[in-house]
Amino acid sequence: MNRKKILVTGGAGFIGSHLCERLLNEGNEVICLDNYFTGSKDNIIHLMNNPYFEVVRHDVVHPFHIDVDEIYNLACPASPVHYQYNAIKTIKTSVMGAINMLGLAKRLKAKVLQASTSEVYGDPNVHPQPESYWGNVNPIGIRSCYDEGKRCAETLFVDYHRQNGVRAKLVRIFNTYGPHMNPNDGRVVSNFIVQALKGEDITIYGDGNQTRSFQYVDDLVEAMIRMMATEDSFIGPVNTGNPGEFTMLELATLVLELTGSKSKLVFQPLPSDDPRQRKPDITLAKEKLGWEPKIQLREGLITTIKYFDEVLKK
Ligand SMILES: NC(=O)c1ccc[n+]([C@@H]2O[C@H](COP(=O)([O-])OP(=O)(O)OC[C@H]3O[C@@H](n4cnc5c(N)ncnc54)[C@H](O)[C@@H]3O)[C@@H](O)[C@H]2O)c1
Repeated sequence: MNRKKILVTGGAGFIGSHLCERLLNEGNEVICLDNYFTGSKDNIIHLMNNPYFEVVRHDVVHPFHIDVDEIYNLACPASPVHYQYNAIKTIKTSVMGAINMLGLAKRLKAKVLQASTSEVYGDPNVHPQPESYWGNVNPIGIRSCYDEGKRCAETLFVDYHRQNGVRAKLVRIFNTYGPHMNPNDGRVVSNFIVQALKGEDITIYGDGNQTRSFQYVDDLVEAMIRMMATEDSFIGPVNTGNPGEFTMLELATLVLELTGSKSKLVFQPLPSDDPRQRKPDITLAKEKLGWEPKIQLREGLITTIKYFDEVLKK
């Protein structure tokens, strides 16, 4: 059997753990690299008995050598509370992590996929955002360590491809949710669910009319795997997200309904640089990957609520 060796950096995180599981299920050998800054062994413990799964504690800021066919580079804290905790480290992780993984891919002639983000569009003036939009990003704000770190990583991916022929791939991930999200990471889906399950007030920033689109993690993993399988000449970037658009008020109401919670909605000021609306244009993903999201918000929330309910009972 043609078993590929695949490195997943950030493999013990929310998205990484789902990706590791899916790649193992497809019969690959998976090496999960993580420094456990935001990830957890609990996210991958169910994979530990698989002899084709290996875990390495390592920081992507430092070079790492291993012989693999493909690299998925996910290592980076993704929620504002975590990436702002040590902003300089966040930039180092994005930039030096990208350089280290690109260097490895260059030597091995391996494919390397970068988990980029819709944050590269900043607070967009174009709606929905196609890949051709250059973004509206504050270079010196409190979100810049993440947004600009990810933008620089994209530049590196494209330059390593242009200059050295590295088999690079870029996916721009829009808001994703699902089991294994960190309950304390301050992201809106996990916040609302945890608050509802605990019967605490549900915190809405601003008036709650700002919109977001929410992609279920299984849809994202499918898009990433399809992107990795595209021909070498196609490097992206490709948006992956669910274009269904919901206001924060709609999300909160749905979470209250599905949890049966009696929590009250409370309103607080918007944090600075918080984008007003964000919605992916997924025309390119449809065309190049034959992909579109399949899991609707209600269905994905039911699975996610079940997961958080179990975690909170532990
Ligand atoms: N979740 C989303 O909605 C979303 C949206 C856009 C982009 N992304 C990107 O997807 C990737 C995964 O995000 P996630 O939501 O799973 O976040 P996460 O925080 O759950 O996962 C990130 C993982 O990277 C690890 N990590 C962080 N710094 C590291 C370092 N220096 N060395 C090694 N490991 C390190 C963490 O311990 C964690 O396991 C990130 O690169 C993120 O920027 C996520």
